[in-house]
Amino acid sequence: MSRTVYLNGEYVPEEEAKISVFDRGFLFADAVYEVTAVVNGKLVDFAGHFARLARSCRELGLPLTLAEDDLREIHQRLIVENRLTEGGIYLQLTRGNSGDRDFHFPSSQTPTTLVLFTQSRAVVDHPAASKGIRVVTCPDIRWQRRDIKTVQLLAPCLAKAWAEANGADDAFLVEDGFITEGSSCNCYIVTADKTIVTRPLSNNILHGITRKALFRLGEEHGITFEERLFTPEEARRASEVFISSATTFVWPVVSVDGQQIGDGKPGEITKLLRRIYLEMVG
Ligand code: PDD
Repeated sequence: MSRTVYLNGEYVPEEEAKISVFDRGFLFADAVYEVTAVVNGKLVDFAGHFARLARSCRELGLPLTLAEDDLREIHQRLIVENRLTEGGIYLQLTRGNSGDRDFHFPSSQTPTTLVLFTQSRAVVDHPAASKGIRVVTCPDIRWQRRDIKTVQLLAPCLAKAWAEANGADDAFLVEDGFITEGSSCNCYIVTADKTIVTRPLSNNILHGITRKALFRLGEEHGITFEERLFTPEEARRASEVFISSATTFVWPVVSVDGQQIGDGKPGEITKLLRRIYLEMVG
């Protein structure tokens, strides 16, 4: 069945949603995006995703003309129109189309392009949540502003392809000997004393909305997080390894570079965090 998508103020069947070949999102990846999870027909942490979208736009001088409530309403209407119970909503905002290919930013009068669409998929009962995933490490070849959620996603696509070619489900990216994050997720290891270690926020990683919620939930449940760098070797020797994102929530990692983690089954802390996150989502 065809989805209804949102394009620049209109709700149209997906076949009718057309964007110019001169759109800067297409030509230059001059665009930002967000993915907000939907569970039981409700948005998960929309306020967090909106705040990050606004920050991405500020950092790039990209005009965000819609207010939080307007954008929330668009998300909600798409949920209703597409009868979405579980999955996510993808939002992309580009610097628009100035009628030609030109590196220079167009005039501030040029309208931006805003697209939203729904994606229906299992989030709560995804098999990876109970089985865990296998990851391999590879060099992080992305640009230096990974804190901005831009659509320049060729490096993560290459990392995922490389993971698949190496019999794994996903890749952890490595820079200067330390893991930055996953190809589309934040990464965590659990040490022998049950401390959860994850990389501190900087321009080197995306400031995950799920990560932020996990920190808050951890605090409420007496679970300790330590923000520091960690190496692939430390990950391979960790008691538990897991990832977080809006599309996965919390998924266990059961092997890193072919090295089994713990007994090769999802760890207790990982399962606990997933459970309390799902409780919060409701
Ligand atoms: N990716 N790091 C990277 C590089 C990501 O692409 C993502 C999310 C995250 C987790 O952020 P959050 O918890 O806010 O989803 C971390 C989304 C889901 C995607 O690109 O589809």
